[in-house]
Amino acid sequence: MKTIRNLILLVLVAAAAACGGPRPASTVGTTPDVERRVDQLLAKMTLSEKIGQMNQISAGGDPANYAEAVRGGQIGSILNEVDPVRLNEFQRIAVEESRLGIPLLVGRDVIHGFHTVFPIPLGIAATFDPALAEEGARIAALEATAQGIRWTFSPMLDIARDPRWGRMAEGSGEDTWLDARMGEALVRGYQGTQWDTTAMAACVKHFVGYGAAEGGRDYNSTFLSERQLRNVYLPPFEAGIKAGALTLMTSFNDNDGVPSTANRFILKDILRDEWGFDGLVVTDWNSMGEMISHGYGADRKEVAQEAIEAGVDMDMMTYGYISHLEEMVRAGVVKESAIDAAVRNILRVKVLLGLFEHPYVAAAAAAAVQYAPAHLDAARRTAEESAVLLKNDGVLPLDPARVRTILVTGPMADAPHDQLGTWAFDGQKEHTVTPLAALRERFPGRVTYVPGLTYSRQKRDRFDEVVAAARKADVVLVFLGEEAILSGEAHSLADLNLKGSQSELLAALKSAGKPVVATVMAGRPLTIERDLPNCGALLYAFHPGTMGGPALANLIFGDVAPSGKTPVTFLRTVGQVPMYYSHNMTGRPYRGETLLDDIEAEAGQTSLGNTSYYLDYGAYPLFPFGYGLSYTSFAYSDLALDNASYAQDGVIRASCTLTNTGAREGTEVVQVYVRDLVGSLTRPVKELKHFERVTLQAGESRRLEMEIPVSDLAFWGLDGTKKVEPGDFQLWIAGDSNSGEALSFSVR
Ligand code: GLC
Repeated sequence: MKTIRNLILLVLVAAAAACGGPRPASTVGTTPDVERRVDQLLAKMTLSEKIGQMNQISAGGDPANYAEAVRGGQIGSILNEVDPVRLNEFQRIAVEESRLGIPLLVGRDVIHGFHTVFPIPLGIAATFDPALAEEGARIAALEATAQGIRWTFSPMLDIARDPRWGRMAEGSGEDTWLDARMGEALVRGYQGTQWDTTAMAACVKHFVGYGAAEGGRDYNSTFLSERQLRNVYLPPFEAGIKAGALTLMTSFNDNDGVPSTANRFILKDILRDEWGFDGLVVTDWNSMGEMISHGYGADRKEVAQEAIEAGVDMDMMTYGYISHLEEMVRAGVVKESAIDAAVRNILRVKVLLGLFEHPYVAAAAAAAVQYAPAHLDAARRTAEESAVLLKNDGVLPLDPARVRTILVTGPMADAPHDQLGTWAFDGQKEHTVTPLAALRERFPGRVTYVPGLTYSRQKRDRFDEVVAAARKADVVLVFLGEEAILSGEAHSLADLNLKGSQSELLAALKSAGKPVVATVMAGRPLTIERDLPNCGALLYAFHPGTMGGPALANLIFGDVAPSGKTPVTFLRTVGQVPMYYSHNMTGRPYRGETLLDDIEAEAGQTSLGNTSYYLDYGAYPLFPFGYGLSYTSFAYSDLALDNASYAQDGVIRASCTLTNTGAREGTEVVQVYVRDLVGSLTRPVKELKHFERVTLQAGESRRLEMEIPVSDLAFWGLDGTKKVEPGDFQLWIAGDSNSGEALSFSVR
């Protein structure tokens, strides 16, 4: 056995040498034993069986409908079946009736929870709590794998800086550093720490640049330079791959004229050769076939050839591989070695997941795992941490002893399906606890419910009933926002104001003269500037998931204090798109210091010169990235760096004293931003390089020490290499991207 192992190692080293130097270590953590098993199985496979492994189909329903194809080894993976009994039957046919008994890889979009639905990923990002995100992903894996699902098409790592794009809901927002940290955490959570039967293969998607769709219109073209890709859009994927992600999905968009599903530069040069990825690459749904629409291939045969030559391993729902690869190999148009490489990647994932040893699940035991109390508790904690307090004139937290009658109103107060948000296929609304349900349970007999509007786009010109109810209440809790269907895939919006008559409802409620607390549930940052004057406080809950109701009740009545921070910039108007904190300085940087300068400029009270801003909406957003209030306040003092100058391989030790200057315990997300003042390329005015959550009691001060490796300041420069360029830098330690005083240092 040792001889064979040594022989394999020798072959691997020789292969590495043949590829021009040592190949990067396996990113999926393969072993000689796994490789031996893969090679032995591959050697037994016919060309048809190999190509069958590369074919993924959506196979909901009766397994008998697919039995012949599965038995014939023509399907390697299925998606969209979640019933454990049916999945066991699919696997039984594959394992016991096909020639080689290769199990199917069963995939599903488990995007923010399986049955227990967590806040949408944009809300999870607002927690700035990777450990909590990992906990939630682990729970999603426990629930999904119990039913036989061993592959999720998550995390979505698309950087999104255009809230018109509906899929902003599915990712971690605008920032490369936050997105990368969240992506790593979700990969770890899904896959777990060992290849046991609860391991669910992660899929970093959509590779790459999909969130930069022109006009924020889903599926539209992108025009990202290699530098922009390498400095902004690729790092989160590299982080996810280095965290061990077993799979990656190509994106629908064409970038600079090349559809991602045929883009050899990103799929081979970067993904395989630079990063050493040895997991499997799957197309997005029919993205291979869509290259015909793109005008990148004349027919399905041609786009199948484009995809295999770019290094795509598995074809989701085009049937391009299963229909045309064999003839192209026999005709010598496609090398069988390309097929072998793809099938190795697929078999490697199946072996690592232990599918050959454990293809079946204990179907009868699956139900007991779903909605476990610990799962619901984690979902509630995540919803609590994901809510961002954007305004509070002091009305929050409410004192239960002082509010006898509570009016609950608004289209999202009791919307059990929509509260789950987009991509929550397996969330069952019967399990959702809405704000109305939570408040009624907590305050029996004290809650009045008058919807005002039953859905967000409803037009109403009279609100007499709800205003009359407000006059009789001690406080008004209004839940606004957008239905789940208004965000997510294919759901872009050109108008980001609250839909229908929601703003009018809020204004009417204010006219009743009672305290108004607004909560917004949405899949994106809506433009809510006009609504702020009509409420004493505003909580932004994104779509908070199954336990959103109890979480919001706990926040509103002060059991927990808000700690969320904006993972994306909140605009004043959609006309400001794109606006994000890590923008370039430009040659005519805007001189306004604050949003107030913008408003004064709009009123003609100040002139901001010929600089980069809007005459009517200035250059500041409504709320910057990283912003969020608490029920207490925090002060940053005694900021310091341990050196004025650092070597390339040095570590910056930044410190400050954080003080809770308020009267309640609170949690602050301390953020560290860095600016490279002069580079071989123009550089962003700030880039997030560290964040941590710090909980302090009222009056408590704590000295914080944060380490930033100088290597984290590296970027892909003019010469096309990634390095830290010597020179002067600035560093901020603050509670959001628009605050704090700069410290200076240099790198030599
Ligand atoms: C969809 C989405 C992708 C998803 C896949 C499978 O079109 O773009 O994110 O994972 O198809 O449902």
